[in-house]
Amino acid sequence: MGSKRGATKASDNETPIGPTGRPYHGFPTPPKLDGHGPARIIALCNQKGGVGKTTTTINLAAALAGYGRKVLAVDFDPQGALSAGLGIQTHEIPTIYDLLLDSKRDPYDVIVKSRVENLDVIPGNIDLSAAEVHLVNEVAREQTLARALRKVTADYDVILIDCQPSLGLLTVNALTASHGVIIPLECEFFALRGVAMLIETIDKVRDRLNPTITLDGVLATMYDARTLHSREVLERVVDAFGDDVLETVIGRTVKFPDASVSGMPITEFAPEHAAAQAYLRLARELVARGAVA
Ligand SMILES: Nc1ncnc2c1ncn2[C@@H]1O[C@H](COP(=O)(O)OP(=O)(O)OP(=O)(O)O)[C@@H](O)[C@H]1O
Ligand SMILES: [Mg+2]
Repeated sequence: MGSKRGATKASDNETPIGPTGRPYHGFPTPPKLDGHGPARIIALCNQKGGVGKTTTTINLAAALAGYGRKVLAVDFDPQGALSAGLGIQTHEIPTIYDLLLDSKRDPYDVIVKSRVENLDVIPGNIDLSAAEVHLVNEVAREQTLARALRKVTADYDVILIDCQPSLGLLTVNALTASHGVIIPLECEFFALRGVAMLIETIDKVRDRLNPTITLDGVLATMYDARTLHSREVLERVVDAFGDDVLETVIGRTVKFPDASVSGMPITEFAPEHAAAQAYLRLARELVARGAVA
């Protein structure tokens, strides 16, 4: 039964089996919070490009905000895709780059409100590509982002950091600042290639810089239940990571590119779509797992 795939029911009174081969729970609606903060910080990280880091950051952030969590999303990628995906123009406004380079800068100068209630953003743009060079000569260069975020954690329940596709100094800064890390993996042939190096990097950060960082979960993205290929890749991911694989799996759909172009999270662009429901479910799963308040 454990190897069964697809949303088949083992029997009428049992929980259905999900795509990861485990029971597929609905997860309860997160309880209302009495107050806000301090934030748990989570980095969305994978040095492989195009696996769904930014899409997950945007839509998970919006889903958690919808459940009444105060969320800050940090665009920590010079491509600026998170900012663009939330409809934020980044020219002529201060960005994460300004915060990294000037330790006296007030983070509230840099935080902007998104169109989504409860969701704020620290934007990023191409300037950030120069930050790596500047930081190299800094004392405690790996802790720069952690120091900057410390000033705002009290106001948020969760801070999500959208990392760039690299394991360089910026990503090490993100991992050093974070309590947990979520690894999005595209259900494609080379999904697991390079993951060992990513895990090694997380282990090094834990050893040297951030002893309490945890793996909050591996998230399978762009899953297509109709293809044997997708199902096989997911099976291999589950073999490699076991219970660290989140039960929620994000299906492949053109709604995501469409939503990005509109500058809206999918939960606002097409709230009834299965893809929006999947990110809401991911938000509930992370609350149920204790990764988010
Ligand atoms: N579940 C999905 N189904 C279909 N397309 C998706 C899905 N998730 C993301 N995409 C699309 O795939 C592309 C890459 O996604 P995304 O930008 O989220 O990945 P990324 O890991 O942040 O990439 P990068 O490494 O370049 O930062 C985007 O065009 C996005 O719209
Ligand atoms: Mg990205």
